[in-house]
Amino acid sequence: MNPKFLNLSRRDFLTKSALGAGLAIGAPSILRAKTGGTSSNDIRVGFIGCGKQHEVLFNAMANIPGIRYVAACDIMKARVGRTFSAIKSRFDYNINRYLDAEEMLTKEAKNLDAVFVATPDFWHSPHTVMALEAGCNVFCEKMMSNTIEGARAMVEAMDRTGKLCQIGHQRRSNPRYQFTLNELINKHKICGQLINVNGQWNRALSSSQDIVSKPSILPEADVLRQYGFNTGADHTLSLEELRHRFLNWRFYTALSGGPISDLGAHQIDIFNWFLGSQPKSVTASGGRSYFKDREHFDNVMCIFDYDTPQGNARAFYQVLTTTSAGGGYYESFMGTDGTIEISEREAYTNIYKESGASNNATWDELVRRGLLKKEAVGVAAGGSDAIASYESAPPDVYALPGGLNKPPHQPHIENFFAAIRGEAELTCDARHALESEAPIYWVNPAANSRQVITFTDEHLHT
Ligand SMILES: NC(=O)c1ccc[n+]([C@@H]2O[C@H](COP(=O)([O-])OP(=O)(O)OC[C@H]3O[C@@H](n4cnc5c(N)ncnc54)[C@H](O)[C@@H]3O)[C@@H](O)[C@H]2O)c1
Repeated sequence: MNPKFLNLSRRDFLTKSALGAGLAIGAPSILRAKTGGTSSNDIRVGFIGCGKQHEVLFNAMANIPGIRYVAACDIMKARVGRTFSAIKSRFDYNINRYLDAEEMLTKEAKNLDAVFVATPDFWHSPHTVMALEAGCNVFCEKMMSNTIEGARAMVEAMDRTGKLCQIGHQRRSNPRYQFTLNELINKHKICGQLINVNGQWNRALSSSQDIVSKPSILPEADVLRQYGFNTGADHTLSLEELRHRFLNWRFYTALSGGPISDLGAHQIDIFNWFLGSQPKSVTASGGRSYFKDREHFDNVMCIFDYDTPQGNARAFYQVLTTTSAGGGYYESFMGTDGTIEISEREAYTNIYKESGASNNATWDELVRRGLLKKEAVGVAAGGSDAIASYESAPPDVYALPGGLNKPPHQPHIENFFAAIRGEAELTCDARHALESEAPIYWVNPAANSRQVITFTDEHLHT
């Protein structure tokens, strides 16, 4: 045996052999998975949390060759069982099942290259730190944690262990977002000076109702207490109350950051990524306007102020859980020459050129090269109520040709696996995620206090 490899763990070998041999991970690996076989080059994966997002991640992951699902953990027996059956029927092999994350990591850590954490937000930090310390690379869902201290502990654990920790802001690996930032905004500067940003997630009342489930498959009270679902309660909770918290952890302040962190995290992360800076301050307003019994605000609006390399700018964000009108969910970057309204959904993505844009030649060149598609020439609304001296000439409308031909989460998972193999850098490691997420932790306090919060290092540092 080559003495250089004597002290290498299986995980080290995976990275080094991929680097050295330019490992080709093609169709044969997934075929091996389907026939129950395995290869020493497969990335071996475990999951903590087998709820709704597990399904999304699993479906995105199942398309990626060279992966072996080894173990799953969930405190809800029915969900681990469902995961076991799904893998058995799709790939024809058995995974190991656990009801406790610590037990899974103790028994399986040396078999696992990567652990996916898809538990409620208040469990992200303990699970991520535990998995990193067990020697595994971690993909943890957003929001990093329900507290900034929890998120900081994740960055510290990543640094201390030298393991990879990707945070599930999947837009960071989305080629449409990368192209828009790198080519359209930064290289070709089609927006001109970016001065305003606007983002929203508007969700209908019908999609914001309490989650319910058949009681017979839910964990008992002692299990829910053991796993902290009573945290923050001011009285001894009944089984029914505990189960409500278990299914609807997003409504409780000790278990999650509420809609502004659950939905806003995706989009405020994009503000900071695209503007290339952290905001200077936040002001916010929120209310329990419809869901009066929920601990978190059901609707929140906030404004961040920025000093960007181009000058000062501001970003408005709203999350509504009572109204879907207003164009769904998107982030809009508004500049002196153009505006890019981008969304994970292609249908909500639009690009507009101002009628007096100073960079017409750049837009024309991008169209000529097929990087932008001109959809419509701006047409004034007209009508007897139009007052010419008030009106701006309408912008021309453009689109990005070509869409993502895979599930939206797949590129982010691929980036994580490529980083494990030593072939790429993470697009959203815990440090970058925290720098971008940090302002979000201060929106609810700003709305509660009705005070502007001016950020210091203390608010934003890792
Ligand atoms: N990136 C995205 O687009 C996206 C979308 C939806 C959800 N998410 C994130 O994914 C995470 C999970 O969300 P979800 O909708 O799947 O929630 P969910 O409630 O459907 O699933 C959570 C699962 O974790 C299990 N669980 C709870 N505590 C546990 C513990 N201590 N140990 C092991 N298992 C435990 C629950 O039994 C449940 O099956 C959240 O952080 C959420 O913010 C991300």
